Amino acid sequence: MAKTVLKTEGLTKHYGGIHALVDADFEVREGEHVAIVGDNGAGKSTFVRQITGVEQRTGGRIFFDGREVAFKGPLDAREAGMECVFQNLALADDLDVPANLFLGREKTLVNLGPFSILDKRAMRKATEEGLKRTGVRIPRLDFPIRRMSGGQRQGVAIARSATFASKLIIMDEPTAALGVQETAQVENIIRTLKAQGISLILISHNLRQVFDLADRIVVFRRGHIVANLRKEETDGSDIVAYITGVKTQNTAAAMM
Ligand SMILES: Nc1ncnc2c1ncn2[C@@H]1O[C@H](COP(=O)(O)OP(=O)(O)OP(=O)(O)O)[C@@H](O)[C@H]1O
Ligand SMILES: [Mg+2]
Repeated sequence: MAKTVLKTEGLTKHYGGIHALVDADFEVREGEHVAIVGDNGAGKSTFVRQITGVEQRTGGRIFFDGREVAFKGPLDAREAGMECVFQNLALADDLDVPANLFLGREKTLVNLGPFSILDKRAMRKATEEGLKRTGVRIPRLDFPIRRMSGGQRQGVAIARSATFASKLIIMDEPTAALGVQETAQVENIIRTLKAQGISLILISHNLRQVFDLADRIVVFRRGHIVANLRKEETDGSDIVAYITGVKTQNTAAAMM
Protein backbone atom coordinates (compact mmCIF):
# COMPACT_ATOMS: atom_id res chain seq x y z
CA MET A 1 0.00 0.00 0.00
CA ALA A 2 1.24 3.52 -0.81
CA LYS A 3 2.83 5.66 1.88
CA THR A 4 0.70 8.16 3.79
CA VAL A 5 1.46 11.76 2.78
CA LEU A 6 -0.95 13.60 5.07
CA LYS A 7 -2.78 12.41 8.14
CA THR A 8 -4.85 14.27 10.70
CA GLU A 9 -6.01 12.88 14.01
CA GLY A 10 -8.84 14.53 15.91
CA LEU A 11 -8.31 17.84 14.12
CA THR A 12 -10.60 20.40 15.75
CA LYS A 13 -11.22 24.15 15.33
CA HIS A 14 -13.59 26.31 17.35
CA TYR A 15 -14.27 29.96 16.59
CA GLY A 16 -15.59 31.01 19.97
CA GLY A 17 -18.77 28.98 20.34
CA ILE A 18 -18.82 27.82 16.72
CA HIS A 19 -17.49 24.27 16.32
CA ALA A 20 -16.41 24.64 12.71
CA LEU A 21 -14.34 21.44 12.69
CA VAL A 22 -14.73 18.54 15.13
CA ASP A 23 -12.41 15.58 15.56
CA ALA A 24 -11.44 15.12 11.92
CA ASP A 25 -9.47 11.94 11.12
CA PHE A 26 -8.30 12.20 7.54
CA GLU A 27 -5.63 10.63 5.36
CA VAL A 28 -4.13 11.03 1.89
CA ARG A 29 -1.75 8.50 0.41
CA GLU A 30 1.05 9.02 -2.10
CA GLY A 31 -0.38 9.72 -5.55
CA GLU A 32 -3.95 9.63 -4.28
CA HIS A 33 -6.53 12.27 -5.28
CA VAL A 34 -9.10 12.81 -2.54
CA ALA A 35 -12.18 15.00 -2.95
CA ILE A 36 -13.80 16.81 -0.02
CA VAL A 37 -17.47 17.70 -0.46
CA GLY A 38 -20.12 19.19 1.80
CA ASP A 39 -22.63 22.03 2.04
CA ASN A 40 -21.70 25.68 2.56
CA GLY A 41 -20.34 26.10 6.06
CA ALA A 42 -19.59 22.38 6.53
CA GLY A 43 -16.00 23.11 7.61
CA LYS A 44 -14.06 22.29 4.43
CA SER A 45 -12.06 25.53 4.21
CA THR A 46 -11.58 25.54 7.97
CA PHE A 47 -9.96 22.11 7.62
CA VAL A 48 -7.61 23.48 4.95
CA ARG A 49 -6.68 26.51 7.07
CA GLN A 50 -5.65 24.29 9.97
CA ILE A 51 -3.50 21.98 7.82
CA THR A 52 -1.69 24.83 6.07
CA GLY A 53 -1.12 26.79 9.28
CA VAL A 54 -3.17 29.81 8.16
CA GLU A 55 -4.87 29.45 11.55
CA GLN A 56 -3.86 27.68 14.71
CA ARG A 57 -6.01 24.68 15.55
CA THR A 58 -7.97 24.17 18.75
CA GLY A 59 -6.88 20.54 18.99
CA GLY A 60 -5.65 17.44 17.21
CA ARG A 61 -2.50 16.37 15.41
CA ILE A 62 -1.21 16.73 11.86
CA PHE A 63 1.37 14.47 10.21
CA PHE A 64 2.93 15.35 6.86
CA ASP A 65 5.53 13.43 4.91
CA GLY A 66 6.36 11.17 7.82
CA ARG A 67 6.62 13.68 10.65
CA GLU A 68 4.31 15.60 12.97
CA VAL A 69 3.99 19.22 11.83
CA ALA A 70 2.73 22.56 13.12
CA PHE A 71 3.10 24.96 10.22
CA LYS A 72 3.13 28.63 11.17
CA GLY A 73 1.66 29.62 7.82
CA PRO A 74 1.31 28.68 4.15
CA LEU A 75 4.95 29.57 3.39
CA ASP A 76 6.03 27.06 5.99
CA ALA A 77 3.77 24.46 4.40
CA ARG A 78 5.06 25.30 0.91
CA GLU A 79 8.62 24.84 2.06
CA ALA A 80 7.72 21.35 3.28
CA GLY A 81 6.21 20.45 -0.12
CA MET A 82 2.51 21.29 0.41
CA GLU A 83 0.96 23.83 -1.98
CA CYS A 84 -2.49 25.29 -1.53
CA VAL A 85 -4.83 27.20 -3.81
CA PHE A 86 -7.10 28.95 -1.31
CA GLN A 87 -10.75 29.65 -1.91
CA ASN A 88 -10.20 33.39 -1.43
CA LEU A 89 -7.05 33.69 -3.46
CA ALA A 90 -3.86 34.63 -1.71
CA LEU A 91 -2.30 36.63 -4.51
CA ALA A 92 -0.61 40.01 -4.19
CA ASP A 93 -2.74 42.48 -6.19
CA ASP A 94 0.02 44.93 -6.98
CA LEU A 95 2.56 42.41 -8.24
CA ASP A 96 2.81 40.89 -11.71
CA VAL A 97 2.54 37.19 -12.53
CA PRO A 98 6.19 36.10 -12.03
CA ALA A 99 6.40 38.02 -8.73
CA ASN A 100 3.26 36.23 -7.54
CA LEU A 101 4.54 32.83 -8.56
CA PHE A 102 7.73 33.40 -6.60
CA LEU A 103 6.17 35.21 -3.66
CA GLY A 104 8.18 34.27 -0.58
CA ARG A 105 10.81 32.34 -2.52
CA GLU A 106 12.18 34.96 -4.90
CA LYS A 107 15.22 34.14 -6.98
CA THR A 108 18.07 36.55 -6.32
CA LEU A 109 21.23 37.53 -8.16
CA VAL A 110 22.80 38.89 -5.00
CA ASN A 111 21.40 37.83 -1.65
CA LEU A 112 21.92 40.54 0.97
CA GLY A 113 18.65 40.35 2.88
CA PRO A 114 16.68 43.55 2.28
CA PHE A 115 19.30 44.74 -0.22
CA SER A 116 19.05 41.63 -2.41
CA ILE A 117 18.81 41.99 -6.16
CA LEU A 118 15.97 39.93 -7.65
CA ASP A 119 16.72 37.77 -10.65
CA LYS A 120 13.69 38.90 -12.65
CA ARG A 121 14.80 37.26 -15.85
CA ALA A 122 15.12 33.84 -14.20
CA MET A 123 11.73 34.22 -12.51
CA ARG A 124 10.07 35.22 -15.78
CA LYS A 125 11.60 32.28 -17.60
CA ALA A 126 10.55 29.84 -14.89
CA THR A 127 7.07 31.37 -14.92
CA GLU A 128 6.75 30.87 -18.67
CA GLU A 129 7.87 27.27 -18.28
CA GLY A 130 5.46 26.68 -15.41
CA LEU A 131 2.51 28.11 -17.34
CA LYS A 132 3.43 26.07 -20.40
CA ARG A 133 3.69 22.88 -18.39
CA THR A 134 0.31 23.42 -16.75
CA GLY A 135 -1.38 24.71 -19.91
CA VAL A 136 -2.54 27.92 -18.17
CA ARG A 137 -2.87 30.82 -20.60
CA ILE A 138 -2.27 34.33 -19.24
CA PRO A 139 -2.29 37.15 -21.80
CA ARG A 140 0.22 39.47 -20.11
CA LEU A 141 2.70 38.29 -17.52
CA ASP A 142 3.72 41.85 -16.67
CA PHE A 143 0.19 42.96 -15.74
CA PRO A 144 -0.41 43.38 -12.02
CA ILE A 145 -2.87 40.80 -10.68
CA ARG A 146 -5.33 43.63 -9.96
CA ARG A 147 -5.92 44.03 -13.69
CA MET A 148 -6.85 40.38 -14.28
CA SER A 149 -10.22 38.65 -14.35
CA GLY A 150 -11.22 36.19 -11.61
CA GLY A 151 -10.55 33.27 -13.93
CA GLN A 152 -7.09 34.56 -14.87
CA ARG A 153 -6.19 35.02 -11.21
CA GLN A 154 -7.29 31.49 -10.50
CA GLY A 155 -5.09 30.35 -13.38
CA VAL A 156 -2.07 32.07 -11.83
CA ALA A 157 -2.73 30.51 -8.42
CA ILE A 158 -3.12 27.04 -9.92
CA ALA A 159 -0.02 27.43 -12.08
CA ARG A 160 1.87 28.46 -8.96
CA SER A 161 0.80 25.37 -7.05
CA ALA A 162 1.49 23.03 -9.96
CA THR A 163 4.88 24.61 -10.63
CA PHE A 164 6.19 24.11 -7.13
CA ALA A 165 4.22 21.14 -5.86
CA SER A 166 6.35 18.33 -4.64
CA LYS A 167 4.18 16.21 -2.33
CA LEU A 168 0.66 17.53 -1.92
CA ILE A 169 -1.58 20.12 -3.55
CA ILE A 170 -4.79 21.36 -1.95
CA MET A 171 -7.31 23.14 -4.18
CA ASP A 172 -10.29 24.77 -2.48
CA GLU A 173 -13.01 25.14 -5.13
CA PRO A 174 -10.54 25.89 -7.94
CA THR A 175 -13.17 26.11 -10.67
CA ALA A 176 -16.07 27.79 -8.83
CA ALA A 177 -15.43 31.10 -10.61
CA LEU A 178 -14.33 29.71 -13.96
CA GLY A 179 -15.90 29.44 -17.38
CA VAL A 180 -16.36 26.17 -19.25
CA GLN A 181 -13.01 26.25 -21.06
CA GLU A 182 -11.03 27.35 -18.01
CA THR A 183 -12.70 24.63 -15.93
CA ALA A 184 -11.66 22.01 -18.47
CA GLN A 185 -8.14 23.43 -18.38
CA VAL A 186 -7.93 23.12 -14.60
CA GLU A 187 -9.29 19.58 -14.76
CA ASN A 188 -6.54 18.73 -17.24
CA ILE A 189 -3.91 20.15 -14.89
CA ILE A 190 -5.31 17.90 -12.16
CA ARG A 191 -5.05 14.87 -14.48
CA THR A 192 -1.44 15.81 -15.23
CA LEU A 193 -0.69 15.96 -11.51
CA LYS A 194 -2.27 12.52 -11.12
CA ALA A 195 -0.02 11.15 -13.87
CA GLN A 196 2.98 12.71 -12.12
CA GLY A 197 2.04 10.93 -8.90
CA ILE A 198 1.40 14.10 -6.90
CA SER A 199 -1.22 13.78 -4.16
CA LEU A 200 -4.19 16.13 -4.25
CA ILE A 201 -7.04 17.28 -2.05
CA LEU A 202 -9.80 18.76 -4.19
CA ILE A 203 -12.65 20.65 -2.56
CA SER A 204 -15.57 21.01 -4.93
CA HIS A 205 -19.34 21.38 -5.04
CA ASN A 206 -19.31 19.93 -8.55
CA LEU A 207 -20.09 16.21 -8.18
CA ARG A 208 -19.52 15.49 -11.86
CA GLN A 209 -16.00 16.87 -11.44
CA VAL A 210 -15.44 14.97 -8.21
CA PHE A 211 -16.45 11.65 -9.77
CA ASP A 212 -14.30 12.39 -12.83
CA LEU A 213 -11.14 13.23 -10.90
CA ALA A 214 -11.05 11.72 -7.43
CA ASP A 215 -10.09 8.25 -6.18
CA ARG A 216 -11.86 8.79 -2.88
CA ILE A 217 -14.59 11.11 -1.61
CA VAL A 218 -14.80 12.46 1.95
CA VAL A 219 -18.02 14.16 3.05
CA PHE A 220 -18.08 16.95 5.65
CA ARG A 221 -21.28 17.92 7.42
CA ARG A 222 -21.57 20.53 10.17
CA GLY A 223 -17.90 20.25 11.04
CA HIS A 224 -17.82 16.43 11.08
CA ILE A 225 -16.50 13.92 8.58
CA VAL A 226 -19.60 11.81 7.94
CA ALA A 227 -18.37 9.59 5.10
CA ASN A 228 -15.15 8.37 3.54
CA LEU A 229 -15.78 6.35 0.39
CA ARG A 230 -13.86 4.93 -2.53
CA LYS A 231 -15.37 6.25 -5.74
CA GLU A 232 -16.33 2.77 -6.93
CA GLU A 233 -18.42 2.08 -3.83
CA THR A 234 -20.64 5.14 -4.10
CA ASP A 235 -22.57 7.32 -6.55
CA GLY A 236 -24.01 10.83 -6.82
CA SER A 237 -27.26 10.23 -4.96
CA ASP A 238 -25.41 8.36 -2.18
CA ILE A 239 -23.04 11.33 -1.74
CA VAL A 240 -25.97 13.77 -1.69
CA ALA A 241 -27.57 11.67 1.07
CA TYR A 242 -24.42 12.08 3.19
CA ILE A 243 -24.15 15.82 2.40
CA THR A 244 -27.74 16.45 3.48
CA GLY A 245 -27.60 14.20 6.54
CA VAL A 246 -29.99 11.50 5.31
CA LYS A 247 -27.12 9.03 5.74
CA THR A 248 -24.01 8.92 7.93
CA GLN A 249 -21.06 6.58 8.52
CA ASN A 250 -20.05 8.48 11.62
CA THR A 251 -22.06 7.61 14.73
CA ALA A 252 -20.59 10.49 16.76
CA ALA A 253 -21.75 12.96 14.12
CA ALA A 254 -25.16 11.30 13.89
CA MET A 255 -25.83 12.07 17.55
CA MET A 256 -25.49 15.82 16.87
N1 LIG B 1 -13.02 33.31 11.18
C1 LIG B 1 -14.19 32.77 11.52
N2 LIG B 1 -14.84 33.17 12.63
C2 LIG B 1 -16.02 32.61 13.00
N3 LIG B 1 -16.62 31.63 12.32
C3 LIG B 1 -16.02 31.18 11.21
C4 LIG B 1 -14.78 31.71 10.75
N4 LIG B 1 -14.43 31.06 9.63
C5 LIG B 1 -15.42 30.16 9.40
N5 LIG B 1 -16.37 30.23 10.36
C6 LIG B 1 -17.57 29.36 10.45
O1 LIG B 1 -17.14 28.04 10.42
C7 LIG B 1 -18.05 27.24 9.67
C8 LIG B 1 -17.30 26.49 8.58
O2 LIG B 1 -16.88 27.42 7.59
P1 LIG B 1 -16.03 27.00 6.33
O3 LIG B 1 -15.57 28.24 5.67
O4 LIG B 1 -14.98 26.04 6.75
O5 LIG B 1 -17.10 26.26 5.42
P2 LIG B 1 -16.93 25.55 3.99
O6 LIG B 1 -17.29 24.13 4.15
O7 LIG B 1 -15.61 25.88 3.42
O8 LIG B 1 -18.10 26.26 3.16
P3 LIG B 1 -18.16 26.77 1.62
O9 LIG B 1 -18.58 25.58 0.81
O10 LIG B 1 -19.24 27.80 1.65
O11 LIG B 1 -16.83 27.32 1.25
C9 LIG B 1 -19.13 28.17 9.18
O12 LIG B 1 -20.22 28.09 10.08
C10 LIG B 1 -18.49 29.53 9.26
O13 LIG B 1 -19.45 30.53 9.49
MG1 LIG C 1 -15.01 26.95 1.81
